[in-house]
Parts: sequence; structure tokens; C-alpha cells
Amino acid sequence: MKSDSTKVGIIGGSGLTSIEDLQVQQQRIVRTPFGETSAPVVFGRLRDQTVAFLARHGQGHTIAPHRVNYRANVYALAEIGVQSIVAVAAVGGIGADFTAGRIVIPEQIIDYTHSRESTYVDGTTDAVTHVDFSYPYTESMREILLESAHRLELNPYAGGCYAATQGPRFETAAEIDRIERDGGNIVGMTGMPEAVLARELGLRYATVALVVNPAAGRSSEVISFEEIFEQLDAGMKKVKRILAECVPAIQKL
Ligand code: HPA
Repeated sequence: MKSDSTKVGIIGGSGLTSIEDLQVQQQRIVRTPFGETSAPVVFGRLRDQTVAFLARHGQGHTIAPHRVNYRANVYALAEIGVQSIVAVAAVGGIGADFTAGRIVIPEQIIDYTHSRESTYVDGTTDAVTHVDFSYPYTESMREILLESAHRLELNPYAGGCYAATQGPRFETAAEIDRIERDGGNIVGMTGMPEAVLARELGLRYATVALVVNPAAGRSSEVISFEEIFEQLDAGMKKVKRILAECVPAIQKL
């Protein structure tokens, strides 16, 4: 069933399996030709707008990054009428501008993932087409996210390149050095193929990234889940404020 008023979808990552401010109206299991979504789609009111929320790793955070059914997730949101997806990502930071706690609205992607179902146009059903992906994030959405974060005085970093790695392990120090040489600034495991799938379906898509740890080899500490969870706790509060702030403007796009 399409819902005309639900134009904004939010895909939550680690640390954002639910949104407390969301007044939940209903949950719906959406069937797709690509299988099951990570979780039921939750419909709720956020700042007087109806939004659709999907927990990327499942409601109990049980689905590893390489096992997420990205095709089903993005297809399901499109199917219910979503036109713009705000993706939330917890990431490692590379370089002095990307320390823990920083909010980043990236503008580029380098994809290091492999062996994931990463397209709807694989030639099995329709003729193969090639989608333009020069600028992977939707600029109008990036601007709204940045304005929202600025209004809340959260000092967002405008730009930067998201390096999508395969996981579920963290990277080696040498891999992070290579990613930095390539031009990557933040590193996460779920940004692809989600972004390109949204593009293939003609959806707007942008990411709010929260740096939760220095990337591998960039601090003397071992990357620990405890450290990440501490950062997630504090940082996702900021992300939720940005989400509430940005939804009315994104709804109008
Ligand atoms: N690397 C990859 N993914 C991540 C990291 C990281 O350091 N931190 C959070 N997600």
C-alpha cells in the first residue's frame, strides 16, 4: 500500500534501532521481490510529519553488515511511497577533522565492499542499464541536513568521503592508510550498496554519519565495542535532534 504522506524514510544503523521521539502509529512487514527487510517498517510521527523508519541491522541488532538485505530494505521504502532516505551511520574517523563525536554529512563514497547483492539491474529480468553515480548523495538533502545541524549548533563537517568496507571485522592499519591515500575520511560498513540502490530506484538519499572511534591504527587504543557504545549513546542523541529538525524540510522536497 502506498501512503502519500510518507515521503521520508530513515534507515537507522548501530545505536539507532528506534527513535524515542517517534510517535509510532503502526508497523508493517513489507514483502519485496528481493526477500525480507531487516525489520518491519515502523510508521510514526516526527515533528508532525509521518516518517517510515527501518532498523538496518534488525530490531535486535542481529544482522551483520555484509548480511543486510539492502535490496529489500530500499525497495520496501520505495514501495510504500518514500521519496527521500536519510541514512544514519556510525563510522570510524581518519584525520584531525574526524574525531569521535563529530557529525559528518559526507559528499563522496569509495566502495571497498564485495560479494553483496548490489544492484536491481543485473540483467536477469530487464536489460542492463548503468546509473549515473558521480555524486552519490542528493545535494538538496545534504544541504538540509547541514542547515539543520548548524541550527542546532552541532558543528557538522560539510563534506568528506565515506569509505565503505566489507566488515564485519574492523580494518587493518594499513588498510586505513590506503583508504586515506585514496581520499577517504570516514569508514563504515553499510554505506554501500544502500546508496546506489536508492539511486537506481530514483530516490533521494543522504547520510548523517557520527564518528564513534578513531579508525584502525589512528589511536594507541584497541578499537573496542565499549568505546563505540559510549560514543553511540551520546552521539545518537545529536543525530536524533538532526532528524527531527530536518524532516519537515525534506518532506517538502
Ligand atoms: N571501521 C568500519 N566501520 C566502523 C568503524 C570503523 O572503524 N567504526 C564504526 N563503524
